[in-house]
Amino acid sequence: MGKSLKRIGLLTSGGDAPGMNAAIRAVVRSCTFYNVECVGIYRGYQGLIEGDLMLLNARSVNNIINKGGTILKSARSNEFRTKAGRKKAYENLKEANVDGLIVIGGDGSFTGGMKFNKEFNFPVVGIPGTIDNDIYGTNFTIGYDTALNTVVEAIDKIRDTASSHNRLFFVEVMGRDAGFIALNAGVGAGAEEILIPEENLGLERLLDSLKRSKRSGKSSSIVVVAEGDKIGKNVFELADYVNENMPEYDVRVSVLGHMQRGGAPSCFDRVLASRLGVKAVELILDGKTNIMVGLVNNEVVTTDLEKAIKGHHSINKELLKVSDIMST
Ligand code: F6P
Repeated sequence: MGKSLKRIGLLTSGGDAPGMNAAIRAVVRSCTFYNVECVGIYRGYQGLIEGDLMLLNARSVNNIINKGGTILKSARSNEFRTKAGRKKAYENLKEANVDGLIVIGGDGSFTGGMKFNKEFNFPVVGIPGTIDNDIYGTNFTIGYDTALNTVVEAIDKIRDTASSHNRLFFVEVMGRDAGFIALNAGVGAGAEEILIPEENLGLERLLDSLKRSKRSGKSSSIVVVAEGDKIGKNVFELADYVNENMPEYDVRVSVLGHMQRGGAPSCFDRVLASRLGVKAVELILDGKTNIMVGLVNNEVVTTDLEKAIKGHHSINKELLKVSDIMST
């Protein structure tokens, strides 16, 4: 390994995701293994601008593999979007003798990392950590699997009360502009309909499907709605629309919100985070930069940061068919 770096900076940025701590642990312990120092940067790029840095060692990351959130804390930094903010960040890294940066986050965090790399020729490697799973170059982002399980568990509980009262529930889930959580959790929880931004099914089709459900004798119905759905109405407007057009339904809305980002990471996310963390350190020590590590067909691979941000990670349309058939 061509190891010219002596100190690697590490930060988590954007929306936190279960498994970020497991990734932090993997990066810190890999640094120890390869005899380089690891500097933890608190509160993402904002902490970097403010010089909120601390040296970490293998013992700093004891007992965190099972913890949700991020011990480094996270932030969405507007200041880092400015050239002046990025310059301050660069100066702080230089002053702390940090010569490479590992960023755990989503596409916004990678966009910042890519600009930083271009402006200061500073080595940057990304690790995809977001519940949304909306990053090109990896089949799974860290936190997505845990969030799916959290959503399925929540919908199972909603189903209990929905069925006791013969109600129709609209359940809004996160995902920003992507429908991965909605589609997969919807199939996993047996939702009658799943509305995602990638596929506009239209309001008529929704009403037809709900009428069919009613006729077929179902005692309850769950419609999972991705927060970024493009049907033209938010989840409350959708509920009102169905109420007006199908008064026979007793409709309720449940917005799952930020609970989807919390909780202990699943085993899958812990293993994924450990694999990607080790690889990120190996790559940066090998002189690689401006890339993201990801998992494709169970192999750890790399993708240019630009491609990871601009490329489109497509949903699996087969799942829409499966959902349709299952809701008969
Ligand atoms: O990107 C993760 C995510 O949880 C999205 O699913 C959601 O749209 C957004 O972050 C919420 O962001 P915030 O925590 O700033 O409200």
